Amino acid sequence: MSSPAPDAPRLAVLASGGGSNLQALIDAHARGDLPAPIVLVISNRADAGALARARRHQIPAFHVGRRDHADPDARILELLQAHRVDVVVLAGWLKLVDPRVLAAFPERVVNIHPGPLPRFGGKGMHGIHVHEAVLAAGVPCSGPTVHLVNERYDEGPPLAAVEVPVEAGDTPQTLQQRVLGAEHALLWRVIRDHFCESTAGVKGT
Ligand code: GAR
Repeated sequence: MSSPAPDAPRLAVLASGGGSNLQALIDAHARGDLPAPIVLVISNRADAGALARARRHQIPAFHVGRRDHADPDARILELLQAHRVDVVVLAGWLKLVDPRVLAAFPERVVNIHPGPLPRFGGKGMHGIHVHEAVLAAGVPCSGPTVHLVNERYDEGPPLAAVEVPVEAGDTPQTLQQRVLGAEHALLWRVIRDHFCESTAGVKGT
């Protein structure tokens, strides 16, 4: 992995799934495109592919679930602070972010959503359900949105979105793959542009 710029923000990635967006961030940092290092990965699922990917790259990776922690969100906050995280990235994280975490990282929690917002967001609108809804609506374009996170699902201010055309004969799965490719190209750029170009006010303690 390339050396981080001395004042680059330190990233944590929260991921519930396979972690292909995490991988895209790891790769962008290794290529030198993303100055910010990924210093911590947390999943609410012990078998998440994201944890395995992190460990393959020697990134500290933790499963935080209800079985082991009476207050999982307090444990998440403790890990974020212990690893001196500056920016929290939700990459396939399917839970609301606790208000204590939002208060500790004001305007420094970002989410990638696999569809246009606000139309295709909200509770239950995640993963394949987003692509099913887009196809059912018959819209010509989909595409990922990156936004700041607040206490409600998919409602924080958008930072960037790209359009991905819906093609004739698309299934939720084919559309999902095309959008996922766009997510991988988008997420590191938004983090770089929003948090790395000028790190004033971004670095935490
Ligand atoms: C991505 O498509 C991401 O946008 C989506 O989950 C997938 C995770 O894939 N997130 C949501 O639906 C959150 N509302 P990955 O684990 O391969 O990065």
